[in-house]
Amino acid sequence: MAGDVPLDHPEFDAIAKWYDFDYERRVRQDLPFWRDCAAEGGGPVLELGAGTGRVTVVLAKDGHDVTAVDLSPGMLESARRRFERAGELPGKVRLVRGDMTSPPVRGRFGTVIAPFRSFNHLYSVDRQLAALRSMRRRLAPDGIGAIALWSPNLAELGQDAGRVQVSYDRTHPSRGTRVVQRFKLQYDYAAQMAYVDYWWDEYRGKRRLQRDHAPMRARWFGRFEFEHLLSRAGLRPLRLYGDFRGGPWREGSEDLIFVFARD
Ligand SMILES: C[S@@+](CC[C@H](N)C(=O)[O-])C[C@H]1O[C@@H](n2cnc3c(N)ncnc32)[C@H](O)[C@@H]1O
Repeated sequence: MAGDVPLDHPEFDAIAKWYDFDYERRVRQDLPFWRDCAAEGGGPVLELGAGTGRVTVVLAKDGHDVTAVDLSPGMLESARRRFERAGELPGKVRLVRGDMTSPPVRGRFGTVIAPFRSFNHLYSVDRQLAALRSMRRRLAPDGIGAIALWSPNLAELGQDAGRVQVSYDRTHPSRGTRVVQRFKLQYDYAAQMAYVDYWWDEYRGKRRLQRDHAPMRARWFGRFEFEHLLSRAGLRPLRLYGDFRGGPWREGSEDLIFVFARD
């Protein structure tokens, strides 16, 4: 089917090396939201597209047993190192390599979540529906699900397209080197797809030590489109937010967050 991509997402293995440096400090505002979701739905928690375990570890510290599924061996390896460093936690964590359209897990979960835009990496309607239907299958009858989607500001997307821009220029905390991340964005409005090339250059003084490159892509969704997808998968939206503080979804919101239950 047009729009389908290979299932192995090699871009995430390239990104795994820089992921925590890029996001660990910058993205924290969503953590109270995921803690509240897990408190509301209860355990155990199934997390899809768990990446390096940024959210997983917080939920395990709260005492939840978490099954964390991700497709990328590189991301899972970073998660494994995170849990090695963390030592014994009140909740048990199980890291599972798998595709969120058919996660290799059994049983029912009080809370099923897909944090920080993982779902934007399902590019075809077939794969989106397969993922939502498996979320439904894994949800306990009175459990809750939540998905946080990227929702681009389309006016800004148009302005940014095609130019190489610096996203950050900062010192690496453990290596003391200077890291500059650049990106170039392109988009296909008709396909609702964004394509972003990322480059990381690491310098010691004036000498460049290394350059990494990762081409990324993401599918964006309209609010009503996603409500229809949920409904086709037998899921009922309970709440819709435009940010992690519980603000409404409106023009300019860059997060599109759904909390839902089995229909
Ligand atoms: C933007 S990262 C988010 C990671 C993590 N949830 C967080 O909050 O930091 C997206 C993650 O989704 C994973 N992913 C993408 N497509 C997937 C799929 N079909 N099944 C499972 N994981 C997937 C990627 O490997 C990546 O780790």
